[in-house]
Amino acid sequence: MTHPKQKERLKPLIRRAAIERRVRKVARQISRDFRGQRIHLIGVLKGSCIFLADLVREIDLESSIDFIAVSSYGRGKESSGQVRLLKDLDSNIAGLNVILVEDILDTGLTLNYLLRVLMQRKPKTLRVAALLDKPSRRIKPVKADYVGFTIPNKFVVGYGLDYAERYRNLKDVCVLHLPGAAA
Ligand code: IMP
Ligand code: MG
Repeated sequence: MTHPKQKERLKPLIRRAAIERRVRKVARQISRDFRGQRIHLIGVLKGSCIFLADLVREIDLESSIDFIAVSSYGRGKESSGQVRLLKDLDSNIAGLNVILVEDILDTGLTLNYLLRVLMQRKPKTLRVAALLDKPSRRIKPVKADYVGFTIPNKFVVGYGLDYAERYRNLKDVCVLHLPGAAA
């Protein structure tokens, strides 16, 4: 028997204009907190790349950027619980004001791992900026210093976030409903 082909559905959760406004606010806060100092942004690939690109352009400080890549998820929606370093930083962060830039803080496993790795390298300060936070999913007790939006426990895509590498280019953050899934 054949089933009618069901499609993935996207429902906008945070619109582009709201993201823009909030990113500007977070950037202003960072600029205030580090007034007169240099900062070094580290983007966690690949999800944070669009957030970082928008954020750094709104920051009114001498800034540099680098990227790190880890994997904790397979191709699907659930975390494997294991974090692995896929790409290390290009340069030393000793003595720098580092801001780790994440797309979303979910279980906290990734951030917990990254904070441990980066602290060992003796930055002057280490803070975390996350576009999205899903506090209800937390396994590790980690927090971001700068949060764009706190969201409910829904799987979201867009503005850098993906599902199996798709949807990163959406301008809004959208909830992804998969065919056959309850929610
Ligand atoms: P954590 O280690 O569970 O905190 O997961 C962090 C990473 O999982 C994020 O950087 C994302 O790449 C991915 N992730 C968690 N929740 C979502 C989601 O709702 N949509 C897309 N990716 C997600
Ligand atoms: Mg990510």
